[in-house]
Amino acid sequence: MNFIVVAYQSEEYYRMVDLRDTILRKPLGLTLDLTSLGNEAESIHVAGFEGNTLLCCLLLTPLDTTVIQMRQVAVDTALQSKGIGKKLVQFSENIARELSFKEIILHARKNVVGFYEKLGYSTYGEEYVEVTIPHINMKKTL
Ligand SMILES: CC(C)(COP(=O)(O)OP(=O)(O)OC[C@H]1O[C@@H](n2cnc3c(N)ncnc32)[C@H](O)[C@@H]1OP(=O)(O)O)[C@@H](O)C(=O)NCCC(=O)NCCS
Repeated sequence: MNFIVVAYQSEEYYRMVDLRDTILRKPLGLTLDLTSLGNEAESIHVAGFEGNTLLCCLLLTPLDTTVIQMRQVAVDTALQSKGIGKKLVQFSENIARELSFKEIILHARKNVVGFYEKLGYSTYGEEYVEVTIPHINMKKTL
């Protein structure tokens, strides 16, 4: 697996948008709305490829000079539970560290809190609903 940072609006970026839609929106009966992706030029787009095949991706969106938000973490359905998500998150944490961010926050789906806990993230605050399902905030000091 080869992890890379993908340029905004590159061919690889649009393949990431497709994977995000397939993994994170379609199962909820929703569609990723390209017109509402406005501020993604500010984000870091991380992708994992095997050869020419996109297997996983996520975004890192700076909130200020010290805090960065991890968003849209998605692993191809057929390849989940094989350690790919863990490697993707760890690769992305290293990028955030190299850029001198001190903390990562994320909006975790309740059913994957255990995944992030194993990677050192802690929940904080109250549960809430986002994209129709329960979420809770999580954070990790880098
Ligand atoms: C959640 C997701 C990113 C995890 O990636 P993955 O490649 O399937 O997970 P990994 O195989 O790297 O798992 C790493 C560890 O977390 C655990 N884990 C994975 N999913 C988990 C879950 N839903 N609940 C609890 N633990 C979980 C694994 O058992 C593994 O534990 P181990 O290190 O002790 O063996 C992936 O399953 C996915 O894309 N799911 C659908 C989309 C989604 O929910 N994204 C997150 C939105 S917040």
